[in-house]
Amino acid sequence: MTPITSRRIAHDGAQRTALPYNSRFASKRGPTVATPLFETSITSLPLLGRGKVRDIYAIDDDKLLIVTSDRLSAFDVVLPDPIPDKGRVLVALANFWFERLGHILPNQLTGIDPETVVAADERDQVRDRALVVKRLKPLPIEAVVRGYVIGSGWKDYQATGTICGIALPPGLQQAAKLPAPIFTPSSKAEAGEHDENISFEQAQERCDTMLKDVLAGTGKTGAQLAEEARKAAIALYSEAASYAAGRGIIIADTKFEFGIDGAGTLHLIDEALTPDSSRFWPADSYREGISPPSFDKQYVRDYLETLDWDKTAPGPRLPPDVIEHTAEKYRDAYQRLTGYKLD
Ligand SMILES: Nc1ncnc2c1ncn2[C@@H]1O[C@H](COP(=O)(O)OP(=O)(O)O)[C@@H](O)[C@H]1O
Ligand SMILES: [Mg+2]
Repeated sequence: MTPITSRRIAHDGAQRTALPYNSRFASKRGPTVATPLFETSITSLPLLGRGKVRDIYAIDDDKLLIVTSDRLSAFDVVLPDPIPDKGRVLVALANFWFERLGHILPNQLTGIDPETVVAADERDQVRDRALVVKRLKPLPIEAVVRGYVIGSGWKDYQATGTICGIALPPGLQQAAKLPAPIFTPSSKAEAGEHDENISFEQAQERCDTMLKDVLAGTGKTGAQLAEEARKAAIALYSEAASYAAGRGIIIADTKFEFGIDGAGTLHLIDEALTPDSSRFWPADSYREGISPPSFDKQYVRDYLETLDWDKTAPGPRLPPDVIEHTAEKYRDAYQRLTGYKLD
């Protein structure tokens, strides 16, 4: 048994009050669009906490119910308007990758149908958007892999010629492909704080310190797990990137989370290779020297930059056309990557 102690999962559910908008179901936007879900209200299971996007319930000592809402966070603030279809796109896409990449390392999936673990009148809250997962102890780092020089990596490179201290060839342009993907971990920040880039050595120290108790008796150290996480993250990214390239999508960078079971075995947890955790570029509009258009939240961020908002909670309401356009970006990412259409 590995009890959850992640800072994101408030055992008293305290984060609920941090969310600026509390209407559980937003109004229906049209007959063809599923009603967006801002927040779940499942009472048949204990609520462990709410992340920015997911509501986490305990099933037992070994399993969690993680429900992906339609909440959108930008600049680490949850916006008041849910995005139609976002939750089910994220879950469907993560499931697609879990299946494809399952040969690289074990993952959190149990195969249990979420509708079987809640009360009958709660099934519509979990349908197509929830997972019953193994309850694992998260590594205290975000496993970021970058294949291209963009975003904070581009800023860092311009200032220092490195990304997170990793030496790179001189003269790279914005959005240039790196000679090989790099692992640039960040600390998992407390709720309301921003993650901070850390060196690999700092990631090892964090894992050593924060996993000591869980690893006792397993013969493993946190530093070894950080090394395992680095190797797994690079392998996962490389395989996903080469698959996506065949579908006309560049995965510029991505973030994984890993967790360990009682034996210290590394698992892929949380979400993987979704537009929330990755930067996807359509290959046909990619070129060096610009920040290429993307399927991630850049569209919403660009809209938010036009407002007079200081990027602290509460976030602003979004106009209907921005909501619909954002929803379309998520659906489009899913369809392009998987080849399936959302019904
Ligand atoms: N299998 C798992 N076992 C334990 N914790 C998990 C598992 N999968 C995901 N988590 C945790 O659940 C939370 C997911 O909620 P999310 O809304 O994505 O949070 P955040 O605001 O941290 O992004 C994260 O804190 C993540 O570390
Ligand atoms: Mg998350």
